Amino acid sequence: MTIVPEVADITMVPEMLSGQAGRILRVGRILCVANQKGGVGKTTTASNLAAALAHGGMRTLLVDLDPQCNATTGFGATPAAMHPLVLETPLSESIVATAIANLFILPGSRSVRDVERIAAQSRAGAALLENHLSLGLAAWDYCLIDCPPSIGDLTRTALASSTEVLMPIQCEYFALEGLTQMIEVIRDVMQERPGRLSFSGIVLTMHDATLELTSEVETEVRDFFGEIVFETVIPRDVAVSEAPSHAQSVLDYAPRSPGARAYTELCMEVRDCE
Ligand SMILES: Nc1ncnc2c1ncn2[C@@H]1O[C@H](COP(=O)(O)OP(=O)(O)OP(=O)(O)O)[C@@H](O)[C@H]1O
Ligand SMILES: [Mg+2]
Repeated sequence: MTIVPEVADITMVPEMLSGQAGRILRVGRILCVANQKGGVGKTTTASNLAAALAHGGMRTLLVDLDPQCNATTGFGATPAAMHPLVLETPLSESIVATAIANLFILPGSRSVRDVERIAAQSRAGAALLENHLSLGLAAWDYCLIDCPPSIGDLTRTALASSTEVLMPIQCEYFALEGLTQMIEVIRDVMQERPGRLSFSGIVLTMHDATLELTSEVETEVRDFFGEIVFETVIPRDVAVSEAPSHAQSVLDYAPRSPGARAYTELCMEVRDCE
């Protein structure tokens, strides 16, 4: 693991974020991978999509905002003792490289009490965290933020710092349960920052074409959400679940597996949305 040098003169970043200095350095796409439901494939999608983007030559940062730190340990990195968001140093000092060229991680921390305290304290506290995160996320081609399974302060901070939301939905009974609340939070953040956050799409995960339930859920989700559902579905594939225990993405662990192919195709669809 190596520390990444400063990626930009951070004094320029506030101007860049307000659209004043796009000619100097563009702000890339920041995808918040969120769904309040647990175990739907957020971490798996954030990690493998990040790996696919990096393999495609995009400078990509995977940001672990979940205290479970699965995205961090899934690439063999070590969770931070204190959350990078509450350190006074620039986020770039906490970023580590991975074995994949172009792929870097901002490790998560199991201790998020400080972050939640600041976010809950006041609107100014929450804005401070959002600014800190936004500064750290500028100057990358792609940032993918892995959120915890909740719509608490961490997810709100992630949404407020992102340009897009990507929502994995697991092909199972109750797939849509609880989504209304999540969508209301997304709508709130969109209204607070008109023109900044958009909904890039829904990705169906753990798809099993042999199960009737899978096709029922797929039909229901596509009928309900229409075009924002990605064409690519992620199949249930044991290689996908094994890859993190080898500290690898599925693209590196089993490049010919259906899971690796699906995440490569999803990557192409995401890039086509640019
Ligand atoms: N396509 C897949 N095929 C097989 N197993 C998968 C697939 N996607 C995810 N899994 C497995 O499902 C479990 C949940 O996935 P993951 O951790 O990505 O979900 P999550 O939404 O991030 O969970 P949490 O809400 O706890 O953060 C993991 O054990 C993972 O290995
Ligand atoms: Mg997760």
